[in-house]
Amino acid sequence: MIAAVLALAASALEPALERGREMFARGANVTAIVANGGAGVPVSGLACASCHAENGRGRSEAGVDAPDVTWATLAKPYDVTRADGRTRRPYTAPLLIRAVTMGIDSAGNALTPAMPRYQLTIADAKALVAFLQRADAASEPGVSDEAIEVAVIGNAETPGETRLFQRRIAWRRESDRDPLAIVARSEASGLAAIAARAAPALIELDGPPPARFPDEGDAFLLDADGVTRALALLELAQRDGAAVAVDAPEEIVAAVRERAAIAPTSTAIIYAGPLAHAPKASTLYLVDADPAEVLANAARFAGSVVYLARPARRPAAAPLLVEALRAAGRDVTRARLSAEIRRLLEYGEHQRSERAVQILQLDAEKRRFVIVTPWLRR
Ligand code: HEC
Repeated sequence: MIAAVLALAASALEPALERGREMFARGANVTAIVANGGAGVPVSGLACASCHAENGRGRSEAGVDAPDVTWATLAKPYDVTRADGRTRRPYTAPLLIRAVTMGIDSAGNALTPAMPRYQLTIADAKALVAFLQRADAASEPGVSDEAIEVAVIGNAETPGETRLFQRRIAWRRESDRDPLAIVARSEASGLAAIAARAAPALIELDGPPPARFPDEGDAFLLDADGVTRALALLELAQRDGAAVAVDAPEEIVAAVRERAAIAPTSTAIIYAGPLAHAPKASTLYLVDADPAEVLANAARFAGSVVYLARPARRPAAAPLLVEALRAAGRDVTRARLSAEIRRLLEYGEHQRSERAVQILQLDAEKRRFVIVTPWLRR
């Protein structure tokens, strides 16, 4: 909270941060041009906090909607669509300075005249940005000087006690407190609600994705995705010379079509969907079936050849999270942690394993699976 920073202000903040705080909280020694009919009127001492609230999270008052201007929100690494439909890009420090001085948002839209245009020296502008960034770091729920609290949902394994930068990583069962991040397995009751408070989320899947997968943009599914699995199955079908039909969501159909001709009807079908609706086919390639469920329904598939793509359950969420925390550094924030997780998944050694798929064949009679391919790295 900015209130917490206020308490530290006198002793702990560097001079530039202290100057930023004065501008934000008290409007000290700043002049803003405020719309007054057509003409702009200079007003001094107009604090950001008087509209955007002490904690920067924004408020609605007298018909004026002052948005959340905490750094975590401004710098979110994806497009934000505002309630009024306007979209914008993530803010950077120069874009924030442009918004405050010229009233232009990160996407180049003019802000309404309700947002004053500030006349700031370069040093003051930098101090204001530095303060907003730091205030945010200080307000990260789940992060204290002693511990970083991580919530665990479902049956995810935790690595026991870990220490980073003299802090303890505290692995807690799903808690009411705001943790910095969550590690989840698919049995994720209330996952979306918790992820909203605690993004980024790392999700390891034991089965199909949870119905309410958090859409905050900072949730990471640690699982070979459906397209990757479907393409592994397609390779198998091509090896067997089968012309396949596809009964799956559009993104999978499109990915298959890019690699191969799709037969309008065929006895070999690549299928993604609820097992209960699986079509009858002589060869069935199941993209997202849960092996246990397939075994339980083995009788249903008598007479069919059934393959399924099993995703690698690597990387495990907890070690990945620790690595990302380490990379995010001492002043970890949600935005920084998200960026590090994304980087590890895209460029790190986790990337290959994230996409590994193994293909199993159902032996319906003996009610077991036979491994058809080794782990295929894609
Ligand atoms: C008199 C009220 C008021 C004051 C004072 C004020 N703002 Fe604003 N601010 C607004 C309103 C209202 C908007 C929304 C404008 C719009 O949506 O077009 C806004 C928008 C913004 C935005 C754009 C956010 C986005 O989502 O694109 C930023 C950044 C911002 N303000 C920062 C500041 C800072 C920093 C200060 C202090 C230096 C400040 N504001 C002072 C009312 C105010």
